[in-house]
Amino acid sequence: MLTIKDAVAVITGGASGIGLAVARYWVEQGGKVVLADVAAEALAEAEKQITELGGDVATVVCNVTKEEDCGRLADTAIEKFGQINLVAPFAGIIMDGLMLKTDRETGKVEDKMGLEQFQKVIDINLTGVFLTVRECAERMVNNDNRGLICLVSSTGSLGTAGQLNYSSTKAAMSVMPKVITAEFFRRKFADKIRCVAIAPGYVGTPMVKNMNQKALDRILENVPIGRLVEPEEVASLVCELYRNEALAGDIFYIHGGLRLGSKG
Ligand SMILES: NC(=O)c1ccc[n+]([C@@H]2O[C@H](COP(=O)([O-])OP(=O)(O)OC[C@H]3O[C@@H](n4cnc5c(N)ncnc54)[C@H](O)[C@@H]3O)[C@@H](O)[C@H]2O)c1
Repeated sequence: MLTIKDAVAVITGGASGIGLAVARYWVEQGGKVVLADVAAEALAEAEKQITELGGDVATVVCNVTKEEDCGRLADTAIEKFGQINLVAPFAGIIMDGLMLKTDRETGKVEDKMGLEQFQKVIDINLTGVFLTVRECAERMVNNDNRGLICLVSSTGSLGTAGQLNYSSTKAAMSVMPKVITAEFFRRKFADKIRCVAIAPGYVGTPMVKNMNQKALDRILENVPIGRLVEPEEVASLVCELYRNEALAGDIFYIHGGLRLGSKG
């Protein structure tokens, strides 16, 4: 079992929601964090919160779609704290919409998902994760660090109408732990650097709370625990996945009993 005390977490999307909750949880257990986010003001606020908790924190304003930003992020962790033990590439966005929107009366297509609406979600949620993980894992290997890469998939990976862009990226997150684990196994360091994904249902973060209330009420009707999952509950899972070194290559759901599968 690993201990979090003095271990170093690199968290993208660290200024908000699940990323910030993981950062808070991590420093409460004695860990150190490098927080990255594209939102500079929110990042400064998050840094303040972590410092108030007595945590050791470095921040990097970083757009995860930019290769050089991700390299700078990984370098900052090594320069400031000497190692990387947890990689949590949690920066992500939603830009929902139907691929084809038809007029209810004529049945003809009146709108469609734009290329930019599709591509932007892919760039941040998929390419951004690839770049963050590649750059951090490179430093972990070269510095002989031990730890976990924890990706964030979603129950949306099973297919949610209106989220062709988002669901596609989250489906990718559920296969990446297997690929990465297999590659690390071949090169004989899968025992040192593990990779898993968490797949949350609906978590009470700005991403979900900003949805319209009616849609949110409809969602909650299908959640057996009768409420959103708390970000702290997700953070607790991430930390347990970090500690327990038997956990590798798999997806761990956290959704309050949500019925899985697409309802179309
Ligand atoms: N909230 C949920 O119900 C839920 C469920 C399943 C999965 N997830 C996933 O968890 C992750 C975090 O979601 P959240 O709910 O905490 O969202 P959030 O909106 O609270 O936080 C996301 C953070 O990512 C940052 N970000 C966006 N684009 C970025 C970029 N290009 N570079 C760097 N940072 C960027 C934002 O500024 C923000 O601070 C996302 O990947 C999301 O898809 C969330």
